[in-house]
Amino acid sequence: MFNPCANSERFVNARHEGNSENSSVAAQKRNGMCTFALMAENLFVAETTDKQERYLALLPQLQALMDPKAGATANVANAMAALKQTFGWLWIGVYMVQDDHLELGPFQGPIACTRIEKGKGVCGSAWNENRTLVVPDVEAFPGHIACSSASRSEIVVPIQIDGQCIGVIDADSERLDDFDTTDQQFLERISEMLSKLYV
Ligand code: SME
Repeated sequence: MFNPCANSERFVNARHEGNSENSSVAAQKRNGMCTFALMAENLFVAETTDKQERYLALLPQLQALMDPKAGATANVANAMAALKQTFGWLWIGVYMVQDDHLELGPFQGPIACTRIEKGKGVCGSAWNENRTLVVPDVEAFPGHIACSSASRSEIVVPIQIDGQCIGVIDADSERLDDFDTTDQQFLERISEMLSKLYV
């Protein structure tokens, strides 16, 4: 059984040893108040510029964050927050297939377009082609939908059930050429994890 207190202990000790936040969480635990044990502030973010190491530290925490008693929206919302906190991208979120279009789901970042037609923009194209699209320069992508003018590069990863695309994970960066095969590999693993929430 998932134990948020046990997990918070591990993360907090890894990141915040000796500081006041650690003491505060420890005090809450002593008082039996571990309701907020897995709040985003307790996420352990590997202190390295190596993105693979950051993903490797994030994956088990994402798994631990998944609350079987909560629905897909709540769990995906937390997953997007954890990704945002880990990588600091401009925008990270999901668009889910709704009939003939994609509809905005849980996200972190500036406000975004609510509907995207199949085949339109990077998201609609990734859905249409049912494959990950890495876009090093959004201005060079024909039909790119600029929800934010600050976005320079983007990656869109399908969320699939039995090979069928039911939505996409979309990440936008303010830096050119910010996404590569490491992001693709790990975001596809995260997509697979999230897809199980929709079964
Ligand atoms: N740029 C995306 C639209 C979504 S926003 O970036 C959040 C696209 O071209 O599909």
